[in-house]
Amino acid sequence: EKGGFPSFMEKEIFDQPAAVADTLLGRSDAEGRLTLDELRIDADDLTKINKIVVLACGTSAYAGQVAKYAIESWCRIPVEVELSHEFRYREPIVDKKTLIVSISQSGETMDTLMAVRYAKEQGAKTMSICNTNGSTIPRESDAVLYTHAGPEIAVASTKAFLAQITATYLLGLYLAQLRGNLFSGQIKDILADLGKIPAKIQDILDRSGEIKELARSMADASSVLFLGRHVGYPVAMEGALKLKEIAYIHAEGFAAGELKHGPIALIDDGQPVFVVVPSPRGRDSLHAKVVSNIQEVRARGAKTLVIAEDGDDAVKDFSEFVFYVPETPTLLMPLLATVPLQIFACELATAKGFDVDQPRNLAKSVTVE
Ligand code: M6R
Repeated sequence: EKGGFPSFMEKEIFDQPAAVADTLLGRSDAEGRLTLDELRIDADDLTKINKIVVLACGTSAYAGQVAKYAIESWCRIPVEVELSHEFRYREPIVDKKTLIVSISQSGETMDTLMAVRYAKEQGAKTMSICNTNGSTIPRESDAVLYTHAGPEIAVASTKAFLAQITATYLLGLYLAQLRGNLFSGQIKDILADLGKIPAKIQDILDRSGEIKELARSMADASSVLFLGRHVGYPVAMEGALKLKEIAYIHAEGFAAGELKHGPIALIDDGQPVFVVVPSPRGRDSLHAKVVSNIQEVRARGAKTLVIAEDGDDAVKDFSEFVFYVPETPTLLMPLLATVPLQIFACELATAKGFDVDQPRNLAKSVTVE
């Protein structure tokens, strides 16, 4: 059932073109209009919301952080992303104009379920983005937008993450359509770019040998840092989480701009640092800022491992290793840039002889608080 792959995790990484394509399938029409009638929340109510709060844990919370950039940019609605277990224990301000979007692969995560129940009691509208049909969180929510990643067996989440990001983009575009924040042509163009993502992920998978070789050469690493800015920041944190949970290596993801506020003190000779570089075609200063962050850590001895967009020659001189991902608009970049980091963690953990599907101390669904 592993389809010839050595682990479920690797199989699921390779399932990602389908996970994204299937999550997009049937959710827009030929004219490029979103058709999310399945949502069951009154369109009128959705046009009235004045805030979105995303509730999730772990990898699903990083999907929420990616969503924040896209939804705020497309819909001009404030989006807060909060870990479910933190949300519940303060006195969060939510009311009937708040849309709660919970994100959960399993639909059974107790922390998220309790947070959704709490928000519902406060009168908020609740929507679930979930990968498991009929599970508890979607059953208790006002609406559900299923991700169609198929069953995820490996404890470390991979294909569910890309499917969750895809679903939040659909939600963002749908809200923009309802509320008139984007022109129909803009929505159509973004949907067309999303439609090209599965083939681009496949291109990355076809070149997985490059990243696997790097991973095998780093089996002795004792600490790996990950830097990103903008949507690259949650990608960096997700890359670090994958390495912690399956390879048991100390790993941390940072916002690249935060370096000089502390973390740069960690850098000394040979410290591996992954840097997720935004498109050079994107927002003006973003790319240049990250390139200068690469130079800063490199000057202090870091081994710089760079994920950059095809054709980005500016990073070459400052990198020990560069993995190129196909061009795509900046907001969609996490769907590509995450993939080499997943492959890296999976291969490194495998090289160390660990069971990547069943890492120590972890369960697939965390049904206790
Ligand atoms: O089933 P959920 O998406 O609610 O699970 C949330 C987290 O427990 C989960 O993403 C966890 O962090 C994974 N082990 C990450 O790979």
